[in-house]
Amino acid sequence: MPIRRRPERVETHDGPAIELRGIGRTYRTGRETVVALRGVDLVVKQGQVVGMLGRNGAGKTTLTKILSTLLLPTSGTARVFGHDLVSEVRAVRQLTGVVFGGDRGLYERLTARENIQFFAMLNGVARRTVAHRIREVLADSGLETVADRPVESFSKGMRQRLHIAIGMVTRPRLLLLDEPTVGLDPVEAERLRTAIGQLRDDGTTILLTSHYLLDIERLADRVVLLAQGRLVADVETSRFTELAGHVATVTVRGRGLAPEALRRPIPGLVVDVVKQEDPLWMARLRVEGWAVGSFTSLSGLLGAGDVVDFSIAPVRLEDAYTELENLARRWATHTSATGAAEYGTGWNTAADAGGPVERR
Ligand SMILES: Nc1ncnc2c1ncn2[C@@H]1O[C@H](COP(=O)(O)OP(=O)(O)OP(=O)(O)O)[C@@H](O)[C@H]1O
Ligand SMILES: [Mg+2]
Repeated sequence: MPIRRRPERVETHDGPAIELRGIGRTYRTGRETVVALRGVDLVVKQGQVVGMLGRNGAGKTTLTKILSTLLLPTSGTARVFGHDLVSEVRAVRQLTGVVFGGDRGLYERLTARENIQFFAMLNGVARRTVAHRIREVLADSGLETVADRPVESFSKGMRQRLHIAIGMVTRPRLLLLDEPTVGLDPVEAERLRTAIGQLRDDGTTILLTSHYLLDIERLADRVVLLAQGRLVADVETSRFTELAGHVATVTVRGRGLAPEALRRPIPGLVVDVVKQEDPLWMARLRVEGWAVGSFTSLSGLLGAGDVVDFSIAPVRLEDAYTELENLARRWATHTSATGAAEYGTGWNTAADAGGPVERR
């Protein structure tokens, strides 16, 4: 889905794109009170792409709704390009686009075109440009031929494309994406990732929530993890390999018996598994770092073992995610035991406020 790039705009704000201080949100359902967010602080520089991870119910959608002015925080202050989210709703909506995954949030009886028009007007698109913008996003999302059909007849993927078209109609400078690839077929999901990448390259600030680590891995500069309404980790995406504790996994198979060396400590490598699968042996090793020692150890092993095949898989975000989750769990145990809100593991890199970041 080619998404049109944002035209030049006069930059008037050189502070952060997002500035959240102590954001809290409580829901009341009958007699029950649910605390969805507990004092979230988050600063995102202009042009940065932040991936937001967290288990179901962690508070990700609540935070996205607050940033898109659909929901008020119950405590704290929030600014988008310097505009207060509570008192300057109009300005925030003009600068922000939001895409929620899933089926909800659309007007079923209205057509796709009418839905886009409604949200365009609501979010401050000027009357004289609205028809043009609608044509543009309909074409970009591939919905032209069904534009005048009521949404109730749409498939899941068509609804998701419509959500994206609505999110793009303001040509936002801040794009909030809450599980944007949900319901898309693999081809469409990949096209959306490419389109988001283009927007990122053009300097759009993006907050991307996804349970698909592939989305985050491909697009985000930085990853934050929410757990039980709190931001419990904040890391550069490139540092994820450190979190996982290794840079790659090597799988080797060879003929005969596994080399003896695999039974002893090997510098730079950690032996995960050694198996005899007659007539072959198999070993899986974790490479701690791409240092000379690891290469020497690997070549020693390969020379000794009549190797038939060999593969290297670089570490993935998934491997580090487990570590992040462990961190969050330790934090939860700590707070429930002490009632404290301390989180002092050193993983929080305390994002610094400031001007636009340079793109990789
Ligand atoms: N309208 C609501 N009324 C009552 N409680 C709510 C409401 N919306 C969310 N919650 C609660 O707030 C908490 C955070 O929900 P939220 O939808 O923000 O989580 P999430 O991280 O987006 O989860 P998921 O990964 O499942 O989308 C949950 O405990 C949820 O039950
Ligand atoms: Mg959610």
